[in-house]
Amino acid sequence: MDVFEAMETCRAIRFFTKEPVPDEMIDKILYAATRAPSPGNSQGWDFIVVTDATIKQALSAKISTVMDATVGAIQQSMGGLDALDDVTRRMLQGTVNMAKTLGDIPAIILVCGKKVYPPQAPTEQFVWSALYPAAQNILLAARALGLGTCFTTYQNTCEKELRELLHIPADVYIAAFIPVGWPAINFGPLARRPVEDFVHRNGWQGDLRA
Ligand SMILES: Cc1cc2nc3c(=O)[nH]c(=O)nc-3n(C[C@H](O)[C@H](O)[C@H](O)COP(=O)(O)O)c2cc1C
Repeated sequence: MDVFEAMETCRAIRFFTKEPVPDEMIDKILYAATRAPSPGNSQGWDFIVVTDATIKQALSAKISTVMDATVGAIQQSMGGLDALDDVTRRMLQGTVNMAKTLGDIPAIILVCGKKVYPPQAPTEQFVWSALYPAAQNILLAARALGLGTCFTTYQNTCEKELRELLHIPADVYIAAFIPVGWPAINFGPLARRPVEDFVHRNGWQGDLRA
């Protein structure tokens, strides 16, 4: 698949079938992740791949409890989800569904890393600089293989339990929690504003958004 087609259709997928994903496909996605750029080519990344049903189920229980409470609070403050715009409402419903069904989603990839750059005085900023490009490569490689993904920060909903369950050392940062599986909904097209809204040519000449 052409890389532009992959980018244009790489929607966040939050509904998956239960069909397994071959290990070779996950390996290919991980290979793509490790081809990403990083500060000084430091490659300060680690990927935890979770396919064990018991672990996924345990994560699902923890994360969906927090997601239910979060969405419940939004619902209460707004007087119901109907008060939200379509995109936000669908996103919230989708993320609640994804948390609940994590146990059935074939794989979860956690994009992690330690402070390694610059070598003489490593900073946290450069951890994220390495991990976000790697995460984006995961999304695009999966899309090119016909697999769905969703970039999430689910790790923040249960970081302590997640670290215990997966034995993640305290000095390892977690940038993304990415479920991977066969999509139960269609890919793309993406809803994005026109490129002209964002591009400043030869300097910042005023606010481009009307
Ligand atoms: C840093 C980051 C964090 C995100 N966190 C979540 C999340 O916790 N849960 C979720 O369902 N989606 C999450 N998303 C996905 C975004 O909601 C999604 O990419 C965005 O709404 C655009 O939707 P689209 O990719 O389908 O066009 C996250 C995306 C990014 C880049």
